[in-house]
Amino acid sequence: MSAKKVKSMQTGVDIEDISRFKGKTLENDEHFLKRVYTKNELDYCFSKKMPEKHLAARFCAKEAVIKALSNILNKKLSYSQIEILNTPNGAPYVNLLEKTQDIKISLSLSHDRDKAIAFVIAQAG
Ligand SMILES: CC(C)(COP(=O)(O)OP(=O)(O)OC[C@H]1O[C@@H](n2cnc3c(N)ncnc32)[C@H](O)[C@@H]1OP(=O)(O)O)[C@@H](O)C(=O)NCCC(=O)NCCS
Repeated sequence: MSAKKVKSMQTGVDIEDISRFKGKTLENDEHFLKRVYTKNELDYCFSKKMPEKHLAARFCAKEAVIKALSNILNKKLSYSQIEILNTPNGAPYVNLLEKTQDIKISLSLSHDRDKAIAFVIAQAG
């Protein structure tokens, strides 16, 4: 058998009720918001008309990344180590704030009136 490195691909998914995030403000919910989200994420979400949709989607994304990566890293990352950013055309991507092995992560988000969902594919290099 060749010594070729075996690549590990994993998926993660999560869905949340948007209502759970409705009415959250930095004034009243600072502890929760700063424990879960980075400043870049909070700036993005609170720049939108309905921040709860974007907060919920990012929460889903972090859970989905944790699911996918726990089987690659054999440890659980915290929410604040996983940052969700957007390219100039709006596409979301994952910025890992924890130094890990080389991992490629693909992320898709969606939200409607009630639910937000995130789907992740992760591959260790
Ligand atoms: C991408 C698009 C289909 C999303 O449609 P939608 O039904 O309004 O949005 P959904 O509720 O399903 O999903 C919203 C999420 O889509 C993601 N999204 C936005 N633009 C995206 C893009 N260009 N690619 C991938 N994902 C995108 C975002 O993560 C967004 O959530 P966020 O703002 O909280 O990060 C729509 O915004 C679109 O057509 N954008 C233009 C795409 C584009 O720029 N194409 C250029 C080349 S053809």
